[in-house]
Amino acid sequence: MNLAIIGYGKMGKTIEKIALDRGHKIVAKIDKLQNNDISILTEKGAEAAIEFTEPSSAFENLKYCIENKIPVVSGTTGWLDKYDALSEICQQEKGAFFYASNFSVGVNLFFKLNKLLAELMAQHNYTAKIEETHHTQKKDAPSGTAITLAQGILQRNKQYEKWALKDKGDENSLPIEAFRVNDVPGTHEITYHSEIDDISIKHTAHSREGFALGAVIAAEWLLGKTGVFGMQDMLKL
Ligand SMILES: NC(=O)c1ccc[n+]([C@@H]2O[C@H](COP(=O)([O-])OP(=O)(O)OC[C@H]3O[C@@H](n4cnc5c(N)ncnc54)[C@H](OP(=O)(O)O)[C@@H]3O)[C@@H](O)[C@H]2O)c1
Repeated sequence: MNLAIIGYGKMGKTIEKIALDRGHKIVAKIDKLQNNDISILTEKGAEAAIEFTEPSSAFENLKYCIENKIPVVSGTTGWLDKYDALSEICQQEKGAFFYASNFSVGVNLFFKLNKLLAELMAQHNYTAKIEETHHTQKKDAPSGTAITLAQGILQRNKQYEKWALKDKGDENSLPIEAFRVNDVPGTHEITYHSEIDDISIKHTAHSREGFALGAVIAAEWLLGKTGVFGMQDMLKL
């Protein structure tokens, strides 16, 4: 397919490589440095777009694609306060929008395991915490993946009312601690603690390839559909 890449940073470059390997053509790359305006997407005949930029840009980029009938996949984190508004626009425009806070298949299995463990632990006297580690250039904290993990725990375990960054919440908050370390693609660990023992589950990404592959497969899957979708729709988890 004719694919546009919006955001040509670490993820955009990995997506380009994987999309070319899978036989797609990159017809446009939109990035602040390349000074390309997003309006070239329609001129270049993009059949779908993949957007990995930054929290302050995602909403406008995605709105443009939806309003111009370009199916769009996004993995940008840190902008989800506007997710419901964008979903509404997508429904009104009969567009196609796919969002995942994490495109790795392994992480989506991990999301499911997290919910199962949260349900098992709900009747027992353990405290829970989430730790996430990412590279130092990451602009948001906690990560979108950590927030999805926290939401999974909050749905199944009524001990906590909300999540908060460590030391910023109260006794009803599920703590998330964010570490920033050079060259780490993304590590997430959930630990349940009691006086007697600890139980932990951990996911470690070894590279960005898994995220990029998932995003390209999502763009392939999205073609010909209308609506708002996520990994649970595509993977049928
Ligand atoms: N969902 C997932 O599976 C997943 C996986 C990894 C990362 N992410 C998320 O994806 C996003 C990008 O990550 P990354 O590691 O690729 O970051 P990055 O290396 O900083 O790349 C972001 C790129 O977007 C560009 N950009 C910023 N505003 C833009 C705009 N308005 N239009 C077009 N391009 C724009 C930036 O340009 P400048 O450098 O000139 O500012 C930069 O090249 C982050 O939100 C990250 O958390 C999600």
